Amino acid sequence: MRIIAIDGPAGSGKSTIAKRLATRLGLEYLDTGAMYRGIAFATLRRGLDPSDQEDVARIVRDVHMQVGEGTITVDDVDATIEIRGPEVTRAVSLVAANPEVRTEMVRRQREWATERGGGVLEGRDIGTVVFPDAVLKVYLTARPEVRAERRSKEVSDLSYETVASDLARRDALDQGRETSPLAEADGALVVDTSDLTVDEVVEALVAKVPS
Ligand code: DC
Repeated sequence: MRIIAIDGPAGSGKSTIAKRLATRLGLEYLDTGAMYRGIAFATLRRGLDPSDQEDVARIVRDVHMQVGEGTITVDDVDATIEIRGPEVTRAVSLVAANPEVRTEMVRRQREWATERGGGVLEGRDIGTVVFPDAVLKVYLTARPEVRAERRSKEVSDLSYETVASDLARRDALDQGRETSPLAEADGALVVDTSDLTVDEVVEALVAKVPS
């Protein structure tokens, strides 16, 4: 299978780079963060507490989610906009720390790639857990102020300070959690995107993909 694994913190450029790289290589692209956001959305919609491990584990077993390129439905409701909102963004790290959620999401991600014979997957644990044997593993990063700046352009209704503190909080939760914390995979190509254009990063990665 031709798998490209792209991991890194929020605002490192993952989504933009992963989409562009997939197009360049003629592969499909999966945003695994959207899947965790979908579970957080389903939890809030049912009025449940995202930190309640058992309730969330129950949801993950029967939720019906469809993730397309840039769209998501959760139990047949279009959640594309809501999963990027502040409520879901605040709840998602709690949900993503739940081991039962992770087991099921990893199972679905492997199934997605197997059905297609490969793809570009973007997330936090793709190179470390989901596909440690990917043909290319990439860890994207950027200076914290650059990441906060990029995120605040995407969510124009929140101040830079709010975005920066949410990001720092989420980084700490994602890196500090017990199950599959965000980390560089063994053998990953580490790229700091702070001072590079999207084209420069994509070209650097294309050059590293084994033919
Ligand atoms: O990339 P994103 O900001 O949409 O990710 C949302 C959250 O999901 C983030 O806080 C970390 C978590 N996540 C994860 O734990 N594992 C993944 N493979 C992808 C995302």
